[in-house]
Amino acid sequence: MTEIKRFTIKDVKNCKKSGAPLVCLTSYTAPITKIIDKHCDIILVGDSLGMVIYGMENTLGVTLDMMINHGKAVMRAAPSSFVIIDMPYGTYEDNPDQAYKAARLLIDETSCDAVKIEGGYDLEKTIKHLSKNNIPVMAHIGLKPQSVIKEGGYKVKGKTNQEVHNLLEDAKAAENAGAFAILIEGTIEHVSREITNSVNIPTVGIGASSACDGQILVIDDMLGLNTDHTAKFVKQYTNMADEIDKAVANYSTEVRNRTFPSENHVYKGK
Ligand code: KIV
Repeated sequence: MTEIKRFTIKDVKNCKKSGAPLVCLTSYTAPITKIIDKHCDIILVGDSLGMVIYGMENTLGVTLDMMINHGKAVMRAAPSSFVIIDMPYGTYEDNPDQAYKAARLLIDETSCDAVKIEGGYDLEKTIKHLSKNNIPVMAHIGLKPQSVIKEGGYKVKGKTNQEVHNLLEDAKAAENAGAFAILIEGTIEHVSREITNSVNIPTVGIGASSACDGQILVIDDMLGLNTDHTAKFVKQYTNMADEIDKAVANYSTEVRNRTFPSENHVYKGK
């Protein structure tokens, strides 16, 4: 049997030097994780699960318990990827101690490898506190979904000089505070490139162009399972919604016309 080697934080950091693109996807459940683990370097248990799994309008209602439960499910099925869990809204913003308690719980309960928080410059002290206490942190900058109410929607970042300045400041602050990587979401290409070139830790982009060191997509979006609006940056690699629709229509027809179960699917007596 070949031994499965887990992708480590050192491997993540080395990608910056080697130039090997980081392959990342979100996952929330064991069956999907079991399929995708061997293809990924990083799996993110994203708080997008609020919308993807629970049908919420945004990520603001996601709780620590939800992240722990889905984190446990993903960890059981991910022997080789580096697993990061999102810290939900309201669990880390007040002060570094609040963040430490929540992050500690996430890591102790799930044995995940790292946590992700939305912020850079504003959370410098928190990132420093977590990193110093052996909790690896990915900083999420650019479009931050947990700021949807404050921002009045989901807005692409890097359009003004002030935004570019703020983003570069966010990235530098995150790196200086000890973040091991930065996720850049919904940011204009040349700004993502500038951010990526300005730091020595890897950047992972979603809607932030190929200028980033790695890429991430929400698994349901790239599988075509999301039947609602899909953003411009999403590439659908297959259309699972259509496949499921066809399969269930078929099943329904066969149950109604009594062709399922057939002889092949029936236990017979002696
Ligand atoms: O929660 C999530 O899925 C994310 C994406 C931006 C990758 O953070």
